[in-house]
Amino acid sequence: MASSQPRYVCQECGHEAHKWMGKCPGCGAWNALVQETESAEVEAQVPDLNADGRDGEPAGHNQPEQLPEVELGEEARLQTGVEEFDRVMGGGIMQGSFSLIAGDPGIGKSTLMTELGGYLPDRTILYVTGEESKRQVKLRAHRLGIDSDALYLLAETNVEEIANAVHDIGPDLLVADSIQTIYRPDLSSAPGSVSQVRESTASLRKLTKDQEFSTFLVGHVTKKGTIAGPRVLEHMVDTVLYFEGDQNHAYRILRSVKNRFGAANEIGVFEMREDGLRAVPNPSEIFLSERGYGVSGSTVVCSLEGTRPILVEIQALVTPTSYSTPQRTVTGFASQRLQMILAVLEKRAGLAFSDHDVFINVAGGVRLEEPAVDLGVAIAAASSFRDIPADTGSVLIGEVGLGGEIRTVSRIEPRIKEAAKLGFDRAVVPENNLDRIAGKHDIDVAGAEQLTGVVDLVL
Ligand code: TYD
Ligand code: MG
Repeated sequence: MASSQPRYVCQECGHEAHKWMGKCPGCGAWNALVQETESAEVEAQVPDLNADGRDGEPAGHNQPEQLPEVELGEEARLQTGVEEFDRVMGGGIMQGSFSLIAGDPGIGKSTLMTELGGYLPDRTILYVTGEESKRQVKLRAHRLGIDSDALYLLAETNVEEIANAVHDIGPDLLVADSIQTIYRPDLSSAPGSVSQVRESTASLRKLTKDQEFSTFLVGHVTKKGTIAGPRVLEHMVDTVLYFEGDQNHAYRILRSVKNRFGAANEIGVFEMREDGLRAVPNPSEIFLSERGYGVSGSTVVCSLEGTRPILVEIQALVTPTSYSTPQRTVTGFASQRLQMILAVLEKRAGLAFSDHDVFINVAGGVRLEEPAVDLGVAIAAASSFRDIPADTGSVLIGEVGLGGEIRTVSRIEPRIKEAAKLGFDRAVVPENNLDRIAGKHDIDVAGAEQLTGVVDLVL
């Protein structure tokens, strides 16, 4: 019979265990296992939903097809006309796609989703709000200047009711804000728990694929706490977008970390204004607009975000420390990577950082993850250490190896092009990248083999 067996589910990664443990064996998170009861009857339904989640056909009727026989069909994409958004989606919202947009609370996810009503005034959009009232969403839409009668609001958290509304309205686009509030009434666990989030997602996914509209799930990322992190959802959706940025800065970056219909790691840059999000088509200009000239510790790097290169200023401040352990404070860059770069500078260029505090800041609240920005970080630190301004007309491109060597970076050409476009005189690039670009661009290109060589060149 349907006996209820307690299970303990990690709220971070979804790992299941039969007894409680302090540390999750799946992801190592502490205190993340929470008891969830589920009846056997419900369990039995679940694989069913997942098995035919792909296209709604019963699994048994699926015949293998030879490659040439597989029909491509027409690629139907909904273009919003907002380039920053369409690019991240891989050229528009694919019909039948199921996407997750995740981000910290308050970053602007609901704002972006509401803006869709303005981007696509002729499309029927069903905006399901589980956190705010319809009134609140309307006030926001008003603030954004949206008054489309194709935008329907539904304050609902029950998946079945949402499905009913979908059948009634037949939307082109469904927004579920947020997935953590949505629940399936046949499951006993609380909304926001891993099983609820996973199963409501599975139901919405099936609905999306059956009816061939497109869905955006909004998900909060919580570093700690009881709400299921969107990590458990990442494999269930076609596209994972992160909406990120520094709350204290106006810039927001929409980044695709997974996209079945386009390039991953593509970014779109927006500015949060009083009257909503404004697309920023030329982010390099913005990120460089407040640059200090003639100040030590500032360099410009070129980071390739998806297919697009952007130029960003790196700022460093190196001061003698008054602590026994010097401080390393980094915003927008991996602190371990900084430790490595400082160690290389110390060993290869003789700059003794061990009795200095080092602060690194990536201007504009951007987060850089590409190794090609290493060289710029290293030179910014060296520049501040010696208190000599780095050459302001140079863009620095290169990965720093442990031996102090400057290593090759990928796709050098678009980076050089962007630097030339923004009026820089010189690009310092890895020696081994030189042959790809020499003489092709309107900019001086200097090859670098060793970090020490670059220090001498630009300081
Ligand atoms: P919101 O979209 O509610 O964030 P999320 O859904 O990710 O939690 O945005 C919240 C912030 O955005 C809030 O602090 C107010 C600000 N905001 C603007 O600055 N301008 C606007 O036009 C709107 C609608 C919001
Ligand atoms: Mg919100």
